[in-house]
Amino acid sequence: MQKCRVTTLAGRRAIVTGAAGALGQVIAERLAAEGAAVAGLDLNAEGLSALAGKVDGLAEPVDLTDFDAVQQAVGRIVEKWGGVDVLVNGAGGGAVSWFHEMTPETWSVQLDRNLTSVFNVTRAVLPSMLEQRYGRIINIASIAAISGGRLVRGATAYAAAKAGVVGLTKALAIEVAEQGVTVNCIAPGAQATPGRDRDTPDRREALLNQIPTRLLGEPEHLARTIAFLAGPAAVNITGVILPLDGGHSI
Ligand SMILES: NC(=O)c1ccc[n+]([C@@H]2O[C@H](COP(=O)([O-])OP(=O)(O)OC[C@H]3O[C@@H](n4cnc5c(N)ncnc54)[C@H](O)[C@@H]3O)[C@@H](O)[C@H]2O)c1
Repeated sequence: MQKCRVTTLAGRRAIVTGAAGALGQVIAERLAAEGAAVAGLDLNAEGLSALAGKVDGLAEPVDLTDFDAVQQAVGRIVEKWGGVDVLVNGAGGGAVSWFHEMTPETWSVQLDRNLTSVFNVTRAVLPSMLEQRYGRIINIASIAAISGGRLVRGATAYAAAKAGVVGLTKALAIEVAEQGVTVNCIAPGAQATPGRDRDTPDRREALLNQIPTRLLGEPEHLARTIAFLAGPAAVNITGVILPLDGGHSI
């Protein structure tokens, strides 16, 4: 019997930021598997070219904290494709930094990487979505925005930036709701990415003790949730902040 291939995103054009990263790669591959053309934006040119062989799409190495560079990179994609249907803002990442000794530079780096980057890319993509009266924007925040980073201490700047992403998601969802554009946000808890392999058994146990299901998130599950929010069944879902955290934030 022939296998039925689900292609809910056939004909859609998707930008994934952080596409060279652990989660971004899996998201890009999932959207491609569901039929979308995918453009990856990331600082890491090497990681992007590795991905390029696996998905039908484009790669634009760019620093997402640079407004003008993002305008140009997105401009090239819009020119090639004629528009963008799906934007996944996945680039970002935290670094442990204690508040009592934090410098303004460390604060700004975290805010730029995790929040200003979302502004820059969304600002560059949104005009084409508004023009075509169709768009799906999915931001990746973190459970740190909700629980204050209880899973990782020293995350004030990261948590503040991700809380900014949560606020941006809700305000933009309202602003563009009547123009065919939805804006949603995933707030992942700890994911089973390669970085977690460095956990000591004690650290892993402490982590699992804070997660009611005692499960780390599977990147493929996160990617499928994003594909759902990008797809036709999610047409009336907007402004949602969805924790994927095994119940940690309850
Ligand atoms: N992995 C987790 O457990 C977890 C949990 C909660 C939230 N998140 C969030 O999910 C997203 C992806 O996480 P990940 O685990 O894949 O991290 P990762 O470090 O593997 O990937 C992040 C990617 O973002 C890119 N990036 C960072 N700053 C950039 C910039 N200025 N310009 C362009 N690209 C830039 C990096 O090059 C990298 O490829 C991040 O926003 C992170 O905060 C991850």
